[in-house]
Amino acid sequence: MKNCGKFIVLEGIDGSGKSTQIELLKKRLLELDQKVHTTTEPTQREVGTLIRKILKKEVSVSEETLAALFVADRLDHIQNQEDGMARLLEDDVNIISDRYYWSSYAYHGLSMPISKVVEMNAICHYHLKPDLTIYLDLTAEESMNRIEKRNEQKEKFETLELLASIRQNYFIAFERHHQNMRIEVINANQDIDACSEQIWKVVNTLFSSK
Ligand code: TYD
Repeated sequence: MKNCGKFIVLEGIDGSGKSTQIELLKKRLLELDQKVHTTTEPTQREVGTLIRKILKKEVSVSEETLAALFVADRLDHIQNQEDGMARLLEDDVNIISDRYYWSSYAYHGLSMPISKVVEMNAICHYHLKPDLTIYLDLTAEESMNRIEKRNEQKEKFETLELLASIRQNYFIAFERHHQNMRIEVINANQDIDACSEQIWKVVNTLFSSK
């Protein structure tokens, strides 16, 4: 069956403002009378819950096992019967997801070749490709500043060196594995409204041609 809803993915390193921008984008789409579902990876479902424990260092598994769990969580995100993305898209619902397989390429590309992570995620790519990926680009330094302001315990990937490598991996992945998918890079150092305007300019093109 063909999807009628659009699948929009927001990506970026920690602190890049994805969740704020997703809420603003949702509001804009609702104003256009579009149906909108917002969602995140890792999900709030069983596999996603296990992943969060691993990220908080409460459970320990190998890097490859973690990458595989993300694939399982993603597949369940697409296919589950409660709020699976595939069915929602068929029902004309537009989806905005906070992260998708680009995050796997960037984060797990730290511990294994990105091409291997792409291979692991082939099943997800087969079932669901983003109509648009927006990358909110933040420097590793600014990301660390924002993380430190949160005053929470740091998660697995939250060091300056790792964030810089993750940002670099995103660009490598976009360049090597875009497979003609549409990817837009937006500067996330600018203020929230300016960033939101730029996102809207890009997203709007999906709907004006609908
Ligand atoms: P979380 O704090 O839940 O959300 P965010 O930082 O997006 O606001 O963190 C999710 C973490 O999971 C983040 O550090 C990136 C990581 N991650 C992976 O390592 N692989 C993946 O495939 C995805 C989707 C996320």
